[in-house]
Amino acid sequence: MKKILFIFASVLVLQGCDDGRLYEEEIPISPDGRTVTLTAHVSGIASWPDPSMYVVLAGFNDDSDYALINKSVPLPQNEGGEVTVQLSGIKENVTRVELCVINRLRRHILSFYTIDEAALSAGNEIEVDAGTLNVGMYNAIQERVFNATCVNCHGASTSAAAGLYLTSDKSHAAIVGNPSKKLPGMNIVEPGDAAKSALYEALSTDVSITDGWHYNHTAEVVDEGILAMIRQWITHGAKED
Ligand code: HEC
Repeated sequence: MKKILFIFASVLVLQGCDDGRLYEEEIPISPDGRTVTLTAHVSGIASWPDPSMYVVLAGFNDDSDYALINKSVPLPQNEGGEVTVQLSGIKENVTRVELCVINRLRRHILSFYTIDEAALSAGNEIEVDAGTLNVGMYNAIQERVFNATCVNCHGASTSAAAGLYLTSDKSHAAIVGNPSKKLPGMNIVEPGDAAKSALYEALSTDVSITDGWHYNHTAEVVDEGILAMIRQWITHGAKED
């Protein structure tokens, strides 16, 4: 806790200093690099299909989507239990450290907690309490994809386009193993087979245009990593948690 207060205090000091000479306040990075020790109560780690995608503490800089350094987050003893993960050797080129998901090429998929540049410059040993984090794969799809855009038409108001509800209380039951209205013969999500899942087809191909749906779905999810996450989720059984 003391160190956390220290980080906050340092950030305040740095921000309070507006003469443009911030660098004088910064603590030089040790030749071995910095160490971040993050503690959190975490649920959902095991839902990621390791090693295709996995939950890590990783260092990035703003020029690339690929982690410069990373360490797997261990499973807590019980779901939601406390875990501590330590990432050492964080060099100068790292401008932020994230508790996030990366793929096997170490490409960033999505982030659950970020330690920014200001917090990283607080010293060579940085301790952070990230609180309680649900990093579950379906939870991520619900929050980052369905809630972010789809529910506007699929269920957040009084009606749902194509009768499809993607709100968090209904989405899983509505999509998994349920027949598609637009693509007869397919389920909306067919566990284990993304190519036979209308939801993945709608987002990854132009079927919504060629089939004359009333809304073009191809530009809904443009991030390759997020699309890959949806594919992996289906391929690995489309589980709710
Ligand atoms: C602007 C409104 C709108 C948004 C946003 C939207 N959709 Fe749709 N969606 C529709 C409409 C309209 C249809 C039905 C098309 C028709 O009847 O021709 C549809 C149909 C579908 C279907 C086919 C359902 C079936 O039974 O075959 C799926 C799957 C789907 N949407 C998934 C999504 C997902 C996933 C998102 C978010 C990434 C999304 N949609 C965002 C309007 C929208």
